[in-house]
Amino acid sequence: MKQLEQKIIEEGIVLNENVLKVDSFLNHQVDPQLMYSIGQTFAALFEAQKITKVLTLESSGIAPAVMAALQMNVPLVFARKRKSLTLKDDLYTESIFSFTKQEESEVTVSRKFITAEDRVLIIDDFLANGDAALGLAKIVEQAQASVAGIGIVIEKAFQPGRNKLVELGYLVHSLARIASLSEGKATFVADPNR
Ligand code: G4P
Ligand code: NA
Ligand code: NA
Repeated sequence: MKQLEQKIIEEGIVLNENVLKVDSFLNHQVDPQLMYSIGQTFAALFEAQKITKVLTLESSGIAPAVMAALQMNVPLVFARKRKSLTLKDDLYTESIFSFTKQEESEVTVSRKFITAEDRVLIIDDFLANGDAALGLAKIVEQAQASVAGIGIVIEKAFQPGRNKLVELGYLVHSLARIASLSEGKATFVADPNR
């Protein structure tokens, strides 16, 4: 997605070889027009998948995911993160290890909001090691629903997330694929469709 790559070039801050800061349009301040275009692009990419629900993880996934849900005319559910949890029967729970933060967190979704008939599109802001997306996929599978696809705003293609997800058979589309963050500069994976 050219508009997103442009925004990353103009406003992204390369913190080091592994981390891109995008606080000005995605992770802190949000650019609603860009999010709207992101929603349209996800809706087009997953049009054939008959999505009935979008699932993301709070908090930074919510802005792009709600725009995708708007375009697809389906609800958005965001999984909640909790540090500690008193076990409850009415929740799906998975623990997700954050490589960046080196900590484990519990994520939960109410059983009310994902059911066996659902075809779920998982959306997240970043794909690094894939643990967040995999945790959400496990929640969908706990509900005996289908993971109809995984949509990522910014993929770090030099980290192992995409390959893990593809090897497990998931359909993955990323709107910007970063090949490298070396020398203080983001470079993108060449897109053969452009
Ligand atoms: P993974 O899910 O692919 O395994 O990645 P990881 O555990 O490393 O990600 C932990 C958090 O860091 C996630 O946000 C993820 O979106 C974010 N993240 C990963 N790589 C980058 C990066 O290069 N730049 C930025 N800005 N974020 C990155 P989170 O903890 O869920 O926070 P929230 O922003 O959603 O509240
Ligand atoms: Na984040
Ligand atoms: Na995230």
